[in-house]
Amino acid sequence: MIVVTGATGNVGRPLTQALAEAGEQVTAVSRHAAAMPDGVRHVAADLAEPTSLTPALDGAKALFLLLSGDLHAPEARPTDIIDLAAARGVRRVVLLSSQGVATRPLGASRVAMRAVEDALRGSGLDWAVVRPGGFASNAFAWAESVRTQATVAAPFGDVGVPVIDPADIAEVAAACLLDDRHTGGVYELTGPEVITPRQQAEVIAAVLGSPVRFHELTRDEAKATMTQFVPVELADDTLDIISAPNPAELRISPDVERVLGRAPRPFSDWVARNIAAFR
Ligand SMILES: NC(=O)c1ccc[n+]([C@@H]2O[C@H](COP(=O)([O-])OP(=O)(O)OC[C@H]3O[C@@H](n4cnc5c(N)ncnc54)[C@H](OP(=O)(O)O)[C@@H]3O)[C@@H](O)[C@H]2O)c1
Repeated sequence: MIVVTGATGNVGRPLTQALAEAGEQVTAVSRHAAAMPDGVRHVAADLAEPTSLTPALDGAKALFLLLSGDLHAPEARPTDIIDLAAARGVRRVVLLSSQGVATRPLGASRVAMRAVEDALRGSGLDWAVVRPGGFASNAFAWAESVRTQATVAAPFGDVGVPVIDPADIAEVAAACLLDDRHTGGVYELTGPEVITPRQQAEVIAAVLGSPVRFHELTRDEAKATMTQFVPVELADDTLDIISAPNPAELRISPDVERVLGRAPRPFSDWVARNIAAFR
């Protein structure tokens, strides 16, 4: 049995689906229940209270570990989850980390995530780490303003990064969970092309078949919005990257192709699959 945390999110949902389709027994974890693919068990647990995971972990051979933003806070103890998994007999953990751990190691949220990676490496478990860059699904933040005002509002409109489709992250994670050859792998995951927020708005307009205006936010305006959803350290670290990505953050990583044998999906694929949110 494989436990998937964050199972109702952008990465966890397609991962749960892919593992179930591969014939694996899956236990899906999130705080709130949601519809699951046939045969998938859902267990409600809060990662901020690691012992709440115990019923999900019993009988598990592998764990996909996705930590929400608040678990990067200084008082959080996500490494307890790794200890608990080892104590309950889990043999393999695949951690969803972040590209910034390598490219901006001094950022506060990156230091916290690096500590989780280090704990996993020292745990004696089989492990693999996926380090994605910015997600295509961050564009969900624009869905309401596209629906109601035909507008995308974002900072740094002409500064791009190679955003990654969360479905590709999920496929790579599934490979790491199922295939021994990925033990000890650290995979940096990007999309196939650098794309700016203004170009992303153009892609949404093209798929919608109607115009979408681009409105450039200041850094402070963007931070005020982001901190409604993520801790201030994570907002600052993210804004540092998207305002001035360094060469490592602009590089198109070969790792999706290396693991899956195909190129990563372009942003337009993600928009086509999720266009209902923007209509
Ligand atoms: N967005 C980016 O550009 C980016 C880039 C690099 C790395 N990342 C990392 O990717 C992760 C986010 O992935 P995502 O977009 O798939 O997430 P998401 O769509 O925001 O979904 C979060 C999932 O985690 C669950 N969850 C949240 N807090 C929880 C808690 N305390 N206990 C148990 N479950 C909890 C949510 O369900 P409930 O709310 O019902 O619990 C949901 O299933 C984060 O770790 C982030 O650091 C993101």
